[in-house]
Amino acid sequence: MSNQNNQILKNTNAQILDEFNASIMFDKELYSQDIRGSIAHSQMLCEQGVLTKEEQEAIEQGLLQVKKEIESGNFEFTLATEDIHMAVESRLTEIIGEPGKKLHTARSRNDQVATDFRLYVQEKSLSIKAQLKELVDTFVNVANKHTETLIPGMTHLHAQPLNFGYHMLAYANMFKRDFQRFESSYERNNYSPLGSAALAGTPHNIDRNSTCEKLGFTAPTSHAMDTVSDRDFALEILFNISTCMMHISRISEELVTWSSYEFQFVRMSDEYATTSSIMPQKKNPDVPELLRGKTGRVYGNLISLLTVMKGLPLAYNKDTQEDKEGVFDSVKTVEISISILNEVIKTMIVNVDKMEAACKIGHLSATDLADYLVQKQDMPFRTAYYITKDVVAKANSLNKDISELTIDEIRSSSEELKDINEEIIMYLDLRNSMNARTSLGGTSTKQTQNQIDDFKNWLESQGK
Ligand code: ARG
Repeated sequence: MSNQNNQILKNTNAQILDEFNASIMFDKELYSQDIRGSIAHSQMLCEQGVLTKEEQEAIEQGLLQVKKEIESGNFEFTLATEDIHMAVESRLTEIIGEPGKKLHTARSRNDQVATDFRLYVQEKSLSIKAQLKELVDTFVNVANKHTETLIPGMTHLHAQPLNFGYHMLAYANMFKRDFQRFESSYERNNYSPLGSAALAGTPHNIDRNSTCEKLGFTAPTSHAMDTVSDRDFALEILFNISTCMMHISRISEELVTWSSYEFQFVRMSDEYATTSSIMPQKKNPDVPELLRGKTGRVYGNLISLLTVMKGLPLAYNKDTQEDKEGVFDSVKTVEISISILNEVIKTMIVNVDKMEAACKIGHLSATDLADYLVQKQDMPFRTAYYITKDVVAKANSLNKDISELTIDEIRSSSEELKDINEEIIMYLDLRNSMNARTSLGGTSTKQTQNQIDDFKNWLESQGK
């Protein structure tokens, strides 16, 4: 190989390795947190007499200018500076000269990246929480309109009649728990890494409480080495997002079914569906299908970071640079997914007639006959269960739902029922069946209304 070729190969290799090593193309996302952290750090260094007032002011003004350049799109990110920390510091030094070189006193990129990334995760935890509160509110509002609308409740498909409001509240509960998960991980992780330095602290006279306070953390972390290698906060947000996406995926699956030609329980606005390129009659529920599908990638991000972390010796290692892309991706995915789901639920049209008609298939009130025999005739449940099976068989032979049988048809279906009181007809009525479930947490309209009131109080307590 000629010398010239050798040189080209070397250059190409260098370029490939620069690209391989760098995080700038994705960690530029952290520019505002990086600048915030640096301003706090410089202010603390000034308070401690490490920087003069003039130097600190020059640094702060310079950092604000870098921020402006980035936000106006005038900042050129290149591989010459491997990550956002180097990029900001080197541009700062270009702008203000010597004082810029003092900014990194008593700091390492190890505690810097831990701080930036934690600030990002904390900010996102709050904004996702706010989105979840809105989503809960949306489900509660739909629930409030449909506490009397019957829908077949499913366990292994057709089972017992519910009201649709009650069904909506199941999702309100899931998203409320998600809200609480973001809230508790926020509290648990709200500790400042800044000042941990590379892994062991620093001989400089720093004040970690000061930077902690400036950045809005509860307290400084207590162990430098643990802090620079800890990514539990990132794993927690990935888990919170995964669980939230799992809930989004479950309602999406229901929306796919409910909006199908076979069910027609709800109609989603046309924006959330597309046509098939071959079947002219079709409207595909692309949006809920995508919400369901994206959940897979979000789970992947959680498993990736768990895997990156599992073999790491203390303390910071470059493997950890792999922590960011998955988190950025999951955050963006859950943000857009919550806001789309919120619109889908707000705008869906509920087809009350179809839902109620579907309750007349599958003998949904059969358990009510067994319960009646237990309560009114003191029959052991298992005996009542088998007698009810005979009534179901009778209904099937007449091609009727159990709720449509006449008293004579019921009386003639089993020797034990020949004298059964006429009031049983009322018990088999689907709406009565739903309303009979008055136990705490049950589906009756009254219980549902109580649950809606509790949700309203909770939403209000969260500043709504
Ligand atoms: N780009 C690095 C990251 O994202 C920043 C920390 C680098 N620290 C170091 N000592 N190389 O993790």
